[in-house]
Amino acid sequence: MSKTSLPTKLEIVEGLMQTPPAISPKYFYDARGSALFEQITRLTEYYPTRIEREIMATHAAAIAANVGTGCTLIEPGAGNCEKAKILCELIAPACFVAVDISEEFLHQSVKELRLALPTIDIRAVAGDLNREIALPADLPRQQRLLYYPGSSIGNFDPAQALALLSRMRGLLDDDGALLIGVDLLKDLAVLDAAYNDAAGVTAAFNLNLLQHVNQLTGSDFDVAQWRHLAFFNSTESRIEMHLVAATDTLVRWPGGGRSFVRGERIHTENSYKYRVEDFVALLSRAGFPRTQVWTDERGWFAVMLARP
Ligand code: AVJ
Repeated sequence: MSKTSLPTKLEIVEGLMQTPPAISPKYFYDARGSALFEQITRLTEYYPTRIEREIMATHAAAIAANVGTGCTLIEPGAGNCEKAKILCELIAPACFVAVDISEEFLHQSVKELRLALPTIDIRAVAGDLNREIALPADLPRQQRLLYYPGSSIGNFDPAQALALLSRMRGLLDDDGALLIGVDLLKDLAVLDAAYNDAAGVTAAFNLNLLQHVNQLTGSDFDVAQWRHLAFFNSTESRIEMHLVAATDTLVRWPGGGRSFVRGERIHTENSYKYRVEDFVALLSRAGFPRTQVWTDERGWFAVMLARP
């Protein structure tokens, strides 16, 4: 028997039975998926990680001056803590709380970070942003800085993003702030290439989801029967990723199954692309009326510091 929790299995199976079928992008990140994503971030075509890092470096002094030192830094989805390490070196927080769903991976990252940054009180918290985040009870309420880089917010539709940002506001006192990375609307060819890289890493990342779903639910997806599809939906202002059945195919899992006809799709991810002013308005509605914005000279990506 797998050790997957029943709610996880039910959520995945429910998504597969839906019309149109869908699987949440949070299931991309098993060990192989996380490694493939790291590979994506190093691709020439995948600009977000690189440009965000450039913005953080170019505007380091301004960001540091606006944040101040000694804050309590909290990063949901901290993963390998690579970005947090750079930010910690920049703003010298008193405490850093790394939150992630993958607890095992997180503990390893945090162990290494403690060695590199011995003066910072570093904590690991297992938590899922979609649910309630239970922060340590002794964590100070004052001077909290939430860090949400990488345009992770792009995975949520605007209504979900509003709900998530509002929940983040709820974790802060009036002296808190949110430092967030947001991918911006741009030339369609640039967007298209970022999700259809020549080396096929994004395709492998998308297809790996089926392997992970097999492992989580006991389903028998034959990955060879599926193809990667990514395109920009301009009506919704988002990249959509899908898996397309290359042939009529039957998939079974314990207690059920379903058939897919050739060409049928499973929707696996949305990645919303914003205009600066639209995201600033969204932040305002979520309880962050004061926002500073830093971008690269082409305006491809934005780092925003939002305050209550
Ligand atoms: C981690 C959600 C920001 O949307 O660009 C990369 C995930 N998917 N290539 C993104 C992803 C395909 C990424 N986020």
